[in-house]
Amino acid sequence: MSAEEIKKEVYWVGAIDWNIRDFHGYSTYRGTTYNAYLVKDEKVCLFDTVKANFKKEMLYHIRQLIDPEQIDYIVVNHVELDHSGCLAEMIELCKPEKVFCSPMGLKAIESHFHPSDWPLEVVKSGDSISLGAKTIQFLETKMLHWPDSMFSYIPEDKLLISSDAFGQHLASTERFADELPEGAALREAEKYYANILLIFSNNVQKLLATVADLKLDIDMIAPDHGVIWRQNPGEILQAYDRWSRHTAERKAVIIYDSMWHSTEKMAKNISAGLRSVGVHARVLSAKSNHRSDIIVEMMSAKAVLVGSPTLNNGIMPTMADVLTYAKGLRPRKKIGAAFGSFGWSGESVKILTAFLEDMQCEVVEPGVRIKNVPDNEALQECFELGVRVGEAVNAALDVDA
Ligand code: FEO
Repeated sequence: MSAEEIKKEVYWVGAIDWNIRDFHGYSTYRGTTYNAYLVKDEKVCLFDTVKANFKKEMLYHIRQLIDPEQIDYIVVNHVELDHSGCLAEMIELCKPEKVFCSPMGLKAIESHFHPSDWPLEVVKSGDSISLGAKTIQFLETKMLHWPDSMFSYIPEDKLLISSDAFGQHLASTERFADELPEGAALREAEKYYANILLIFSNNVQKLLATVADLKLDIDMIAPDHGVIWRQNPGEILQAYDRWSRHTAERKAVIIYDSMWHSTEKMAKNISAGLRSVGVHARVLSAKSNHRSDIIVEMMSAKAVLVGSPTLNNGIMPTMADVLTYAKGLRPRKKIGAAFGSFGWSGESVKILTAFLEDMQCEVVEPGVRIKNVPDNEALQECFELGVRVGEAVNAALDVDA
């Protein structure tokens, strides 16, 4: 790859990680990129760096444009190590005049790198610096997704450099969303939001309100992962608004695991009950679907039904994995129900219901517990649970409409 000009004298100088397949429990089937940006002006400024083992790739791109020693400023929009993994080496190499970071960024830099003589300068929301012809305006974006996170806005280019926000884990030689097949970038952005930002949805709502208040004129959003939003950046802003409001479709997601297919049969009959009242379902085995794909389906569904047989007085480990992950990400405004088969002790439905309550679901009672193998009567009970949940979905969406 080469450095790529994204605006006049603003360049992508990042790195492409084609092979990463796990990012803290998030399945990155399509790899990712670590986007760093370089502005050539009277002052040369680098925005963020890359993961440590991609330093050579970033330097190769920078050297296509300038000698790295010409870098005057480094802006640290985010200290997480996929963006600051070679910050210390870059400071050593470039000897910049200044390294800008947010107040919380300073604390994060201190606790990560323990620097003694870095030329750090703290900038807050509303502060700006001049590079010559271009200006950088800073906006702190605390908890999107770390306390230190910050946006940099270049008004002369109508360019928002947005750190992790609006990113996607997607390795590609395309640098812009509009170079990919229609909808591809947005689908990856949705997965990224569900797995990283869903928990911070209240902060996203506040940030969108701040951006609107500031009347920032944005015609390009350049995140730190994936492709850049060049045509219609409003599309990703609107999607973030929708996702952070926990907007749901007339859809249910049924997540289950099964030992001898009893809970699986229950899941399928619940699905039929939902369908009978016009609610489509995604029936997802926790064994066959990765937690980070399940959370995407969960984010857009109005109802979440969870099923497990009882195993060792508990639930299946696959379900514990998915539900622990989902609980942490805090999907909200869901209708929930639990079901499962059992042999003797039968605690699973109670445990699953507790997970749903922790996620602040409106739980439809009673859940369905079936001993060993469901007969026709038991399957009808499952169908009826699907009907009850489906009717609750319809009622909730009709009220919302
Ligand atoms: Fe891409 Fe929070 O680092």
